[in-house]
Amino acid sequence: MRRGVEGPELLSSLVSSQVEIHRPYGGVVPELASRNHALKLRPLVEQALAEAAVPVSALDAFAATRGPGLASSLLVGHSMAKALALAARKPFLSINHLEGHLLSPFLDFEPFGAQSEIPPHLALIVSGGHTMLVHARGFGDYRLLGRSLDDAAGEAFDKVARLLGLPYPGGPEIENQARLGDPTTYRFPRSMPRQLDFSFSGLKTAVRYTLAKLDDPQAHCADLCASFQQAVLDVLVDKAVRGAREAGCELVTLSGGVSCNRALRQAMDRACHQEGLTFLACPARFSTDNAAMIAFAGLLKLKEGGASSFREDIDPNLALVSSPDIQ
Ligand code: KG4
Ligand code: ZN
Repeated sequence: MRRGVEGPELLSSLVSSQVEIHRPYGGVVPELASRNHALKLRPLVEQALAEAAVPVSALDAFAATRGPGLASSLLVGHSMAKALALAARKPFLSINHLEGHLLSPFLDFEPFGAQSEIPPHLALIVSGGHTMLVHARGFGDYRLLGRSLDDAAGEAFDKVARLLGLPYPGGPEIENQARLGDPTTYRFPRSMPRQLDFSFSGLKTAVRYTLAKLDDPQAHCADLCASFQQAVLDVLVDKAVRGAREAGCELVTLSGGVSCNRALRQAMDRACHQEGLTFLACPARFSTDNAAMIAFAGLLKLKEGGASSFREDIDPNLALVSSPDIQ
């Protein structure tokens, strides 16, 4: 990524997916994940440099994810970026994975020029590991308004897909099935815990009980998926709109792997429009984990002179905000 006249310019963005490797196990196997990162990373970096037609010596800085995530996988990328930065005598930028997701809606945002700032907004981050509502007052200035008390939204999609015998990752599978089903068939609970927090484990249990009562669950798969997805969407949309009102934000953003879901994007768009709010979803290609969002966060950090120490370690439980009231 480079700082262009019109704004950040993405020169190359490559993702080496491990979905096929983990699918037979129904989820991510940490040992396989880190081994494959170690195998794939160097050729991937070389390919990205070739596509961008930029030699390593011309790069200004090297960014990598510090956390949260799987320790053994984080170590591979973090160490590689540190080594490259040390060899090239350039700054190293250690980035919070969640900040990458939070900023990703601005990657393609036209009015966001090179000189512009990240505008104040209410961010809904929905990934496999996190569900969060954040009041972002600008770059690096975040206040956590709500988060999931149990399963993350993506985790709920993956677990329910597993109950239904659908392959990993479950999110896209459920979305495809849901398109063929009727969301009003089953009335699954809309769990609304205190204030702006979320809870999805009761919904997962409700699906399990419903399945146990059906003679042939597969025959009802599309309706089950549509009803489950609608229950998740209703809660996410309701809390995001409430969060925007409480924080006094006019702009609402959506990011993280679950933001791939077209029904969610449409529901958020509709609700924001009705409330007179501006809605900005992360471009679909930057929804699931990618390097572009980390490079973008790195670019903004570099602009503020925030290079990281080479002694910085990975942190599998890194928080986006260290808030005394919500953890
Ligand atoms: O952000 P991400 O790539 O990784 C984490 O940081 O966790 O998110 C992955 C999650 C998985 O749980 C996956 O099932 C979910 O995003 N996901 C979806 C869809 N595509 C991916 N969930 C619902 N609908 C989708 N279309
Ligand atoms: Zn992620």
